[in-house]
Amino acid sequence: MNTKLVWLFLLCFAVTLGNALVCYQCRTSHNQDCYSPINKTSIQKHHCNSRNSDVVDYQCVAYLERNSRTNSSTVSRHCVVKNDFDCTNFANNRRHKGYIVDECYVCDDDLCNSGQKTAALFALTLGFIFVGRFCM
Ligand SMILES: *[C@@H]1O[C@H](CO)[C@@H](O)[C@H](O)[C@H]1NC(C)=O
Ligand SMILES: *[C@@H]1O[C@H](CO)[C@@H](O)[C@H](O)[C@H]1NC(C)=O
Repeated sequence: MNTKLVWLFLLCFAVTLGNALVCYQCRTSHNQDCYSPINKTSIQKHHCNSRNSDVVDYQCVAYLERNSRTNSSTVSRHCVVKNDFDCTNFANNRRHKGYIVDECYVCDDDLCNSGQKTAALFALTLGFIFVGRFCM
């Protein structure tokens, strides 16, 4: 699998669709590659808008929570409707269900929920400079 080609394809797609956001989507209970640092080759990249034709804006979320009784931890990454997900509220709700949220963040850029924020943004910036020549 050629990572550069995957990036180029994703970036072309992102540019073509305008504001369609792409997030990593996984849970460690289904896929061990979802843990930080994630395996960017194997983790599914999900187009947040792909199921609806609406114009709702999305964000990416990533969180690490553990079962307060067994201590087994789970990482989750997915799309959320913009401004619909608040890490503090989420942590409070999860605490009532017996989970402790150790890490949580919401972000606005494609694939920003990798747990390696600066690296992803850097790659994206380089990609957009590059993509201008290939997609248009
Ligand atoms: C990442 O996933 C790919 C494809 O499943 C696999 O070949 C590779 O060994 C994985 N890399 C790591 C560091 O686990
Ligand atoms: C659960 O994890 C916390 C933090 O990693 C640790 O301090 C604690 O001892 C663990 N408890 C159990 C029951 O393993």
